Amino acid sequence: MHIAIIMDGNGRWATRRGRARTVGHREGAKAVRKIVESARRLEIDILTLYAFSSNNWGRPRSEVDALLHLLQRYLISETRRCAAQSIRIKVIGRRDRLSRSLMRTIEQTEEATASCNRLNLRIAVDYSARQSIAAAAQILQRSPDNDQAAFSNALGCAIHSANGSPSVDLLIRTGGEKRLSDFLLWECAYAELSFTDCLWPDFDETAFEAALEDYRHRNRRFGRLAAGAV
Ligand code: IPE
Ligand code: IPE
Ligand code: MG
Repeated sequence: MHIAIIMDGNGRWATRRGRARTVGHREGAKAVRKIVESARRLEIDILTLYAFSSNNWGRPRSEVDALLHLLQRYLISETRRCAAQSIRIKVIGRRDRLSRSLMRTIEQTEEATASCNRLNLRIAVDYSARQSIAAAAQILQRSPDNDQAAFSNALGCAIHSANGSPSVDLLIRTGGEKRLSDFLLWECAYAELSFTDCLWPDFDETAFEAALEDYRHRNRRFGRLAAGAV
């Protein structure tokens, strides 16, 4: 089971309280901790979280710095806890525009949790699905294989994902918008979609379980007929 989450609504959460947007991002990081723990407890195999999109570079410098700083602090503080709980952390996306210091932290976190196998936590940073698809196409140009499996692998390589590009079963977006914002376009080909108005800092275990419960009642046909229809 692969769940992907577009964690949206931090800024509005803070603005509604008359606080700076970065306060919302800090609260958002707390929600991440809780949801990761829930995912492990619920025995989800893969959880992919959209933390920073390539388009988010277009935000004011101060907000970008705050977001990337928060991410680094999250990785530093969670590495030991995740390793103890056998949660493997991988950061997916582009790496060439991140600071050296953040890169080092990412590498240390990935190394420290590399042998963990309870939950595969993928955090998307400087991520753009379109860019990754274009990069995968370039990788494939140099390869004799051009089937879907080869493309999937190339896509994994393009975003530093060790396990290729696994299909998403359930995509959740908080914050009320109903769009994908350039997230996992290939992997979401047959994903079930769940949109909620709940702002990310308010998204708790109960809301997560409600989304999963709703998913369990979906009829996933993949173009075929429902069981018992003929
Ligand atoms: C999501 O919250 C966090 C990131 C995009 C990094 P936003 O910052 O987009 O919050 P809103 O959508 O402005 O409320
Ligand atoms: C998507 O949220 C990116 C992340 C959650 C990291 P945005 O707030 O950046 O998306 P748009 O601008 O509403 O599409
Ligand atoms: Mg937003």
